[in-house]
This record gives sequence, structure tokens and C-alpha cells, in this order.
Amino acid sequence: MSTIELNGDIFEPYITEEQIRARTRELAARINEDYKGRVPIFIGVLNGAFIFLADLIREVTIDCEIDFLKLSSYGDAMISSGQVRMLKDLNCQVSGRDIIVVEDVVDSGLSIDFVKNMILHENPNSVKFVSLLLKKGVPKIDFTIDYVGFEISPEFVIGYGLDYQQKVRNLKTIYRLKPDGSKE
Ligand code: IMP
Ligand code: MG
Repeated sequence: MSTIELNGDIFEPYITEEQIRARTRELAARINEDYKGRVPIFIGVLNGAFIFLADLIREVTIDCEIDFLKLSSYGDAMISSGQVRMLKDLNCQVSGRDIIVVEDVVDSGLSIDFVKNMILHENPNSVKFVSLLLKKGVPKIDFTIDYVGFEISPEFVIGYGLDYQQKVRNLKTIYRLKPDGSKE
């Protein structure tokens, strides 16, 4: 698989479709076990998590419900703006329910921290977090991401739901920004 060029930045293949699929199955198997006999609500954080959530819940065999909320913190930049805004609220009743928040990537941790506070405010029975990617050493959060797909170094990644200026979410492979910018 070769590199791709976007606006003069070079990205190289990082995590393949097969690796994502295998890891997603493992995470779903743990969720199936941990939530046996319960009916959790998966809450996908839009936009980035929509593809991962769709693949994850198709590996989930317990009864479950789905809802989404939409946040914005990045704008079109490659680094977080440091501010989280809610663009779409939840439609489900959180009170008394088991909530599983699904993220594409935890970077600064600001978004997931915002979601956690928002959900705890509604008195759920429990809340856990799934993130396909976790950037090592970066998140400023004082709680654990319960189910992590891949711990990655703090690089800018794209594909499989993750965007670059709103594009390339449809790539099946996850790519990372090539540090030296070379095409080889
Ligand atoms: P946070 O910095 O942990 O609040 O991450 C906020 C959101 O920014 C994530 O949920 C992603 O949707 C997006 N994001 C973070 N890192 C990347 C990246 O490397 N590529 C594309 N989007 C990212
Ligand atoms: Mg996200």
C-alpha cells in the first residue's frame, strides 16, 4: 500500500483494515461478556466515530441501543482548538442506563472529558468508554478508557472515520502523517 498526498502533506499506511477488524472483534467480545444480561446504550461521538461504531456494534451480540452526539473541537486544524462545543445533543434517556461512549480517537482528552461530565450529570447506572485509538501520553484525563483498540504515538492520523479537513473519512485503512514528508 502506498502513501497518499493531501495538500502537500504525505500520509503513510498505519493500521490496516484487517488489523482494525480483528481488534474490533476482540473489543466486542469483551463487551459481550462484560454486559451480559444488560442492555447498554452505545453513544457514538460524531463525526469521527461513526464508522468504528457501525463495525463495533455488528460484532456485539447482546441487546443494545444506539444514540449519537456531535461535538466540535478541531475545526479544520491538525491540533485541538482546546475548546469543545456541542453541536448535537443526545436523544436518549441516560438516567439509570448503562452507557458506553464510543470515540474514534482520544487525543487531548478534552472531548471525552466533556462527554463524561455531560453523561454523569444525567445519572446513568454506569458509564464506560471505548476508543479505537488512544494517543500515548497526551490525554489530560483522570479516568481510564476501558476499551482501547490501539495505543498510538501522538501523530495525526486519518481514515476510517478520521478526517483531514472533513475529507478522507471513507478510507478503509488508517494512515499517519509522515514525519519527514518523504514519499518513500
Ligand atoms: P481530543 O483532543 O481528545 O478532544 O480529540 C477530539 C477529536 O478530535 C477526536 O474525537 C477526533 O474526532 C479528532 N481528532 C483527534 N486526533 C485526531 C487525528 O489525529 N486525526 C483526525 N482527527 C483527530
Ligand atoms: Mg471523535
